[in-house]
Amino acid sequence: MNFIGSRTIETDRLVLRKSTMAEQKRLWEILMLPEVNKWYLVGAKKHANDKEYWTWEVQEKFYQAKVDKAGNEDVFYWSIFLKADYTNSGKEEVIGQVSAQEYGEDLSVRDVGWYLDPTYQGKGYASEAACAMIDYMFKKVEIEKIISGAVKDNVASCRVFEKLGFDKIGEETHDSNYTFYDGTLTFSKYELTRKKYLSNGNN
Ligand SMILES: CC(C)(COP(=O)(O)OP(=O)(O)OC[C@H]1O[C@@H](n2cnc3c(N)ncnc32)[C@H](O)[C@@H]1OP(=O)(O)O)[C@@H](O)C(=O)NCCC(=O)NCCS
Repeated sequence: MNFIGSRTIETDRLVLRKSTMAEQKRLWEILMLPEVNKWYLVGAKKHANDKEYWTWEVQEKFYQAKVDKAGNEDVFYWSIFLKADYTNSGKEEVIGQVSAQEYGEDLSVRDVGWYLDPTYQGKGYASEAACAMIDYMFKKVEIEKIISGAVKDNVASCRVFEKLGFDKIGEETHDSNYTFYDGTLTFSKYELTRKKYLSNGNN
């Protein structure tokens, strides 16, 4: 495995860059939308009902702490920028994030995640970003495997895994660990190995 950090990745419509503070407030705004955080945001559950806690004034330091580590060679997450030709404003806009986080002790096995501004959902941008990130992780970073998953009812995210060639390896039902969602949830689990990725014509 090559620890080369989150280098810039360009696709037809997007540029994925390592996080900086310049775009974090917009990402916070996107992540505070219930339809985005419902099945994405974990942790700080005890603060779920504390409105003050989720304000930018309180949250900024957590985003800053993440940005401080964004340049580390063992960190793999990117802010997704939509090129000016495709935005409503006619200027480049930050529209979400993709990541390939640690899954367990074996750093060559990763868990992937993504979220996107609802304004720009349903246009293939998450798939385009995730596809580029996965290619980078398998071919440049040379990880061995991705194990990840999504709530079974999260059709859009499950569809992204399927479009990218992941195998569904099972389902798990357990209590929600999402900050703003209580209850029991069924998760679809997905896996993709480097061997399978490369043998699918991606070499
Ligand atoms: C998951 C998410 C990133 C997808 O973003 P996106 O840019 O809309 O994704 P894409 O357009 O690349 O692909 C979505 C696919 O799901 C399909 N889809 C979305 N909602 C659907 C629905 N209700 N029923 C059937 N298909 C649906 C789309 O048609 C598309 O498939 P297609 O290309 O075959 O038509 C976005 O919905 C999101 O941010 N959700 C909230 C955060 C989240 O759930 N993150 C993942 C946690 S595991």
